[in-house]
Amino acid sequence: MRATLLLLAAIGAGACQRERAFQHHPYRHVKRQSSNATFPPFLDVIEQVLMNSFDTVSISQWSYYYNLFLNYPISNSLVLSHSNGTTFTPTLMEDMVEEDETTSYPNRIPAFHGYSFTGNVSAEYVYVGRAQQVDFERLIALGVNLEGKIALAKYGGPYRGLRVKNAQDHGMIGTVIFTDPGDDGNMTEAKGVTAYPHGPARNPSTVQRGSVQFLSTYPGDPTTPGYASKPDFPRADRSDITPNIPSLTISWIDAQPILEALNGFGTNGRAVNRNGWVGAIPGVDYSTGAGSGATLSMSNIMNDTCGTIWNVVGIINGTNPDEVVIFGNHRDAWIVGGAADPNSGSAVLIELAKAFGALAETGWKPLRTIILCSWDAEEYGIVEEYIPCLKNAAVPYLNADLAVSGPIPDVSALPDPHAISTSLMKKIVYPYRSATNLIIYDVWAHESGEIGVLGSGNDYTAFLHRGIASIDMAPLLFEGAPDTHMIASSRPPLINYHSNYDSYHWMAKFGDPGFHTHKAIGQYLTLLLYHMVSDAVVPLEPADYVPQLKTYLKALQSDISASNFTVDLSNLTAAIFAFETSAREFVDIRTKDVSTNDTALITVQNHKASDFSRGFTSQGGLPTREFYQNTLFAPGRDIGYAPVTFPGITESIMIDKDAKLAQEWIKKTSDAILVAASILKN
Ligand SMILES: *[C@@H]1O[C@H](CO)[C@@H](O)[C@H](O)[C@H]1NC(C)=O
Ligand SMILES: *[C@@H]1O[C@H](CO)[C@@H](O)[C@H](O)[C@H]1NC(C)=O
Ligand SMILES: *[C@@H]1O[C@H](CO)[C@@H](O)[C@H](O)[C@H]1NC(C)=O
Ligand SMILES: *[C@@H]1O[C@H](CO)[C@@H](O)[C@H](O)[C@H]1NC(C)=O
Ligand SMILES: *[C@@H]1O[C@H](CO)[C@@H](O)[C@H](O)[C@H]1NC(C)=O
Ligand SMILES: *[C@@H]1O[C@H](CO)[C@@H](O)[C@H](O)[C@H]1NC(C)=O
Ligand SMILES: *[C@@H]1O[C@H](CO)[C@@H](O)[C@H](O)[C@H]1NC(C)=O
Ligand SMILES: *[C@@H]1O[C@H](CO)[C@@H](O)[C@H](O)[C@H]1NC(C)=O
Ligand SMILES: *[C@@H]1O[C@H](CO)[C@@H](O)[C@H](O)[C@H]1NC(C)=O
Repeated sequence: MRATLLLLAAIGAGACQRERAFQHHPYRHVKRQSSNATFPPFLDVIEQVLMNSFDTVSISQWSYYYNLFLNYPISNSLVLSHSNGTTFTPTLMEDMVEEDETTSYPNRIPAFHGYSFTGNVSAEYVYVGRAQQVDFERLIALGVNLEGKIALAKYGGPYRGLRVKNAQDHGMIGTVIFTDPGDDGNMTEAKGVTAYPHGPARNPSTVQRGSVQFLSTYPGDPTTPGYASKPDFPRADRSDITPNIPSLTISWIDAQPILEALNGFGTNGRAVNRNGWVGAIPGVDYSTGAGSGATLSMSNIMNDTCGTIWNVVGIINGTNPDEVVIFGNHRDAWIVGGAADPNSGSAVLIELAKAFGALAETGWKPLRTIILCSWDAEEYGIVEEYIPCLKNAAVPYLNADLAVSGPIPDVSALPDPHAISTSLMKKIVYPYRSATNLIIYDVWAHESGEIGVLGSGNDYTAFLHRGIASIDMAPLLFEGAPDTHMIASSRPPLINYHSNYDSYHWMAKFGDPGFHTHKAIGQYLTLLLYHMVSDAVVPLEPADYVPQLKTYLKALQSDISASNFTVDLSNLTAAIFAFETSAREFVDIRTKDVSTNDTALITVQNHKASDFSRGFTSQGGLPTREFYQNTLFAPGRDIGYAPVTFPGITESIMIDKDAKLAQEWIKKTSDAILVAASILKN
């Protein structure tokens, strides 16, 4: 009965240009033991119906089918002028490669930054490393004049929009951001790996597109801060949350002559002595470049109009009408292809819908309503529209964006779905290298064994920051890369991320030949959704917040002692203790209700398990950014995607250097934890 899978038509939403970000998983906390699971895994009858519906051929077809793109520059250009008058003009575009049809697509567009500022500037330029606050502090200490110059910055680490913001805040007039093969770990031509299209290493002309909105201040449509973007809604001045200087994005092969012109000028890259400053572009010493006499002329003309986006929503009604589970992925891409981002998630979403359709044909109904969402314009902002109506329903949120970009399974989640996320890994056969008898759990436990903390940069943001249990799935391609980022990210970004080479051809040849990983990840997410919607006891474990809260508290204590501030953490410690007590009592009561099989009482416990985490939010939002309301996690203000824990307190100390503000946030955070504890109790 496909009919139960109601396509609720499309919900249109007017939206000016929007955005998206790559998600690193920098904090890894929950190290699990090795598995004693049997092979092949045991599946009950319903699980078998769902699993058997998965098919690598149709997933591959879905992956090929999605060819979309969104919103663009009118024109852009960049010219390097040497002091002797000769010039170099980068292409701002990937090379076409014959093997990969989408790279020569007639509608392909040059690389650009979403939400970038329209403007023409021409000036001397300075290499500014990754353009974080600390990089600028170092440049200032070195006496480099930044005012009126163009910033040449390197990708990697923090979210790209923050580079533009920091340059702008230091009086610079434009930003050019380049990709550096030094961030690709061992997957480089220099280390003997062949470049795309003949091998998996980065093609030298690869360019990373993406938004430069100030994501850690506000995600979503920047002209409608804090509310959904609809055609007749008032539009705010967006100058505080999008750049006021132009920016461009270039490949490393285009960056080479531009960096080379700075060689020997200013302070040599090694002498700058900043983590991540020196990359691996041949012939380049990563000097700051002051006084080189070389100039850049950049032009970036964007079409600042409003367009329409479409969110497609499918619903399978549950028997408990006020319990809902949402599974979503975005559909829009920065490029013609987008095989990993987002098509791997879209292909999985369609195959998952098909599997639930097959199950519904057997007469099965979920306990909880399933909402499947194919979001539009995640790349341009993050879904905000559904927040008000979801506020009163009990909703965990499952997200699959980069569902597959390679063979290593990687999950990030809030603490309460950790246990279910981990145990279901033992039920799925996983193709890895040439092994035929592995399950996801084995590979995950061997390669990482830790569940990441959610930050921002994806559709789960709007849910997470309203305190809704969220899970994000993103297997990665690359293994064991060095820690090249300031934050402790253990893996380099996906090499083709937001480039024309994130294509079906790349996916079929290097990313996931045979689409076996797509199938396994799709099966895993399907099983996760199935248990979320059909287990009599909703599989969320509030008590799993306790060890996490204690870990975050330790990190906070060490940040505080490294600073020279004195703050009183006793109320926070007490609140965590009170939460621990409530969580223990909750577990005891729920166990008792389950043993007496009291359905009404179990429903009460299910509501508590889904609702308590909303208590962790603080109504007014974090300092300087009201959208972000979760007092436990937020994207770092100077990092963007990666999470900071206890953000109100941590950043009051580390960024605002304001002990009084920190003390206020200790109060707000403690109060929020006590609210969560009381929801569990009631
Ligand atoms: C699902 O529930 C909604 C709201 O109660 C109702 O309007 C709709 O008709 C139901 N759909 C099906 C297929 O039963
Ligand atoms: C696996 O089995 C060993 C030996 O029987 C036991 O010590 C260990 O706790 C088990 N691990 C898990 C995760 O069940
Ligand atoms: C101009 O300067 C650039 C950079 O130093 C150099 O590569 C080029 O050969 C010079 N051209 C002439 C004509 O001197
Ligand atoms: C900006 O630069 C582009 C490319 O050089 C040029 O076509 C355009 O006319 C310039 N616009 C302004 C306002 O100077
Ligand atoms: C800007 O976008 C609007 C709406 O999509 C379109 O009608 C218009 O032609 C575009 N303008 C230019 C100069 O491309
Ligand atoms: C890169 O390769 C070298 C040499 O094989 C190896 O020692 C190193 O561990 C690798 N680095 C990573 C991060 O995998
Ligand atoms: C703490 O104070 C000492 C002594 O005044 C100073 O040297 C140090 O830089 C300060 N540390 C921080 C993080 O402000
Ligand atoms: C701790 O909480 C108590 C009770 O709410 C309050 O009276 C006290 O001022 C708080 N202490 C600090 C240091 O904020
Ligand atoms: C628990 O109660 C439900 C509904 O009353 C019933 O369907 C189920 O079989 C019972 N389970 C057990 C283990 O008694």
